Amino acid sequence: MEAWGKELMFELYNRYAPDVERLRRFNSFIPTIGTSYAGEERRLLYLMVRFMAPELIIEFSPKRGWTTLHMAAALEDNHKGRIISFELDPIYAALTKRTVKTASLAHRVQIVVGDVREEFPRAYDDPDTWRSTPEIGFLFVDSDHSAEFAHWYLGNLFPLIQQNGVVHVHDIETSPERVVNNEPLPVEPTGEEKVLAEHLIRHRERYRWFSVADAVRDQAYLSAVRPWGGGDLSFPPDRVRLHPTDERMGFERNPSLWILQAGAQATKTYPRRPFEPLHKTLKERLAYETRKQIASLYAPLREMRRSWKQTSPRA
Ligand SMILES: C[S@@+](CC[C@H](N)C(=O)[O-])C[C@H]1O[C@@H](n2cnc3c(N)ncnc32)[C@H](O)[C@@H]1O
Repeated sequence: MEAWGKELMFELYNRYAPDVERLRRFNSFIPTIGTSYAGEERRLLYLMVRFMAPELIIEFSPKRGWTTLHMAAALEDNHKGRIISFELDPIYAALTKRTVKTASLAHRVQIVVGDVREEFPRAYDDPDTWRSTPEIGFLFVDSDHSAEFAHWYLGNLFPLIQQNGVVHVHDIETSPERVVNNEPLPVEPTGEEKVLAEHLIRHRERYRWFSVADAVRDQAYLSAVRPWGGGDLSFPPDRVRLHPTDERMGFERNPSLWILQAGAQATKTYPRRPFEPLHKTLKERLAYETRKQIASLYAPLREMRRSWKQTSPRA
């Protein structure tokens, strides 16, 4: 891949600007499902899926389905591809199913309920679920922001990423070199961000990266993408709760990192590096199974409660 980073984004905006404009149709979902994902990263997520045209996207995690919606829409516009999306919380999983169904995109998305660390290897090893070649071409990561979780996906999933495959990681405040150099940042990097930054710098010959948060602090980037409908950092009018750092800074900081794996795929077999399970005892597992069973009944009530809370006048 020749162009990468800002140059690639300029090219993609130029190519798909009318389709980016159409993403506004999803704004009506914001009061019900919320969004913890900012405008520029939302547009770039759509653009990258259009450009990469993957057969399969692995997503963890969807929460109520906002990011899933944008990736599924890009697949639909490509006329190919599907998403396997892993969500720990059974209610969120049920809400994501409702989101993609309402948008008529359910045929592009399979939701797997459970801890991705347990469910991913099952899906990868099951030909009926995976239905693709044994590699990951497009990985979306936005789940648990701990160092332990980052060690899990770096040890188990990064080796499966194909050459020229891409990874998107959310809640990453800047480029890895700035993290390892301990530069002052608007937000203290999470354990995940520190572990990821160290990994990328240690293996820098294998990767290229692009920080959206750094790009939106660059006036030249903003001026270049504005003619195509990009670079708007204002808070959407329907957004109810703001991240305190965004509120303090006065604009959406777009904490997304895009990674291109330039090196060859390390293995086709899931590495099985161990991790600490969340539900250890039989009692915990049974309680979780019960939540799974009632989730689809409870989800509409949760949605109604959320809509009601947001439309009722504040005391
Ligand atoms: C920040 S939210 C994702 C937001 C979503 N990507 C969006 O912007 O629309 C993080 C989600 O990760 C899920 N999660 C956390 N740990 C997980 C795990 N081990 N396996 C699967 N999902 C997990 C949480 O339940 C939560 O829904």
